[in-house]
Amino acid sequence: MCSSFSLKTVLLNLAILVQINGVVSASNLPTDQVALLKIKSKITDDPHGVLGSWNDSLPFCKWLGVTCGRRHQRVTSLNLTGKGLAGSLSPFIGNLSFLRYIFLDENQFHGSIPPEIGRLSRLQNISLISNFFTGEIPANLSSCSKLRELSLYRNKLSGKIPNIFSSLQMLKIFDLRRNNFTGRILPSIGNLTSLEILYLSRNPLGGSIPDSLNRLKELRELGLAHNGLTGVFPMFSYNLSMSEFTWELLIQTEVHIAFS
Ligand SMILES: *[C@@H]1O[C@H](CO)[C@@H](O)[C@H](O)[C@H]1NC(C)=O
Ligand SMILES: *[C@@H]1O[C@H](CO)[C@@H](O)[C@H](O)[C@H]1NC(C)=O
Ligand SMILES: *[C@@H]1O[C@H](CO)[C@@H](O)[C@H](O)[C@H]1NC(C)=O
Ligand SMILES: *[C@@H]1O[C@H](CO)[C@@H](O)[C@H](O)[C@H]1NC(C)=O
Ligand SMILES: *[C@@H]1O[C@H](CO)[C@@H](O)[C@H](O)[C@H]1NC(C)=O
Ligand SMILES: *[C@@H]1O[C@H](CO)[C@@H](O)[C@H](O)[C@H]1NC(C)=O
Ligand SMILES: *[C@@H]1O[C@H](CO)[C@@H](O)[C@H](O)[C@H]1NC(C)=O
Ligand SMILES: *[C@@H]1O[C@H](CO)[C@@H](O)[C@H](O)[C@H]1NC(C)=O
Repeated sequence: MCSSFSLKTVLLNLAILVQINGVVSASNLPTDQVALLKIKSKITDDPHGVLGSWNDSLPFCKWLGVTCGRRHQRVTSLNLTGKGLAGSLSPFIGNLSFLRYIFLDENQFHGSIPPEIGRLSRLQNISLISNFFTGEIPANLSSCSKLRELSLYRNKLSGKIPNIFSSLQMLKIFDLRRNNFTGRILPSIGNLTSLEILYLSRNPLGGSIPDSLNRLKELRELGLAHNGLTGVFPMFSYNLSMSEFTWELLIQTEVHIAFS
């Protein structure tokens, strides 16, 4: 009795979870669970065994680092900060359509940031600090119009900073420090009118600092050090004696600040 029940369970699991070329294909599982299993399958090193909990014995909403909304069992947050994970980030993350937060700081992710993230219209925060992501920032992140934080500090990203600014009206934190971004800062950055923190330091950028930075009335922190930026700093209408306004500007740049 007991053994025939477990055999049935095994057969059921086999029917649901079919291994094709080492890739999990699971037609009857919820989309979010499939996506999480695909994400797990791209992780090649998990030194603390945190993804061991991502198994059938627990509902996926209880998997470590996963948070779901209360009403619907849909993933709203993925937080795997500091778990020592190595591997790439599966494009299936773009199927977690209720996702609001992605926190993958301090791991060893490599490969590109999947453009499928552009499908996540509810996304508010993306933090991938201290990883080894390469390639460009996907231009279609501009579809994530609720984005408040895009923190990509300390990766190996390159290419031009895409023009994703006009649609990201809620962005408050934009941190691209310590990457390999080239090209110039587009004047359209001045369309990020909610921006409070802008760090572009330590990238081989060039060109001048756009006057449009002047339009960022909420800006409190600005980092432009260790860049190839040249020219005159735009006249600011901020009250620069405000204590929280920190400057990390002049080191190794040819920028001159002109205040009036
Ligand atoms: C599945 O996850 C649970 C909860 O973390 C854990 O206790 C159990 O050992 C895991 N099972 C396997 C087969 O890894
Ligand atoms: C992410 O999880 C870690 C615990 O692993 C916690 O310390 C941290 O506060 C969480 N981050 C956020 C933004 O919730
Ligand atoms: C999820 O995403 C992948 C790759 O982005 C796609 O091929 C797949 O059809 C999507 N849908 C479901 C339901 O898994
Ligand atoms: C962004 O690009 C990916 C890959 O090309 C695609 O799957 C996704 O639907 C795009 N997102 C938007 C909002 O266009
Ligand atoms: C997401 O970013 C916003 C805007 O900077 C910030 O206020 C908020 O604390 C972040 N949320 C989390 C959970 O870290
Ligand atoms: C930065 O990108 C350039 C190509 O644009 C490449 O030659 C160089 O090796 C990259 N540097 C780092 C540190 O990744
Ligand atoms: C964005 O900024 C550019 C340059 O500053 C400007 O020409 C353009 O009209 C702005 N677009 C929107 C949608 O605000
Ligand atoms: C500028 O900030 C200082 C310190 O917060 C304050 O004392 C001063 O009144 C402010 N000036 C203006 C013009 O807002």
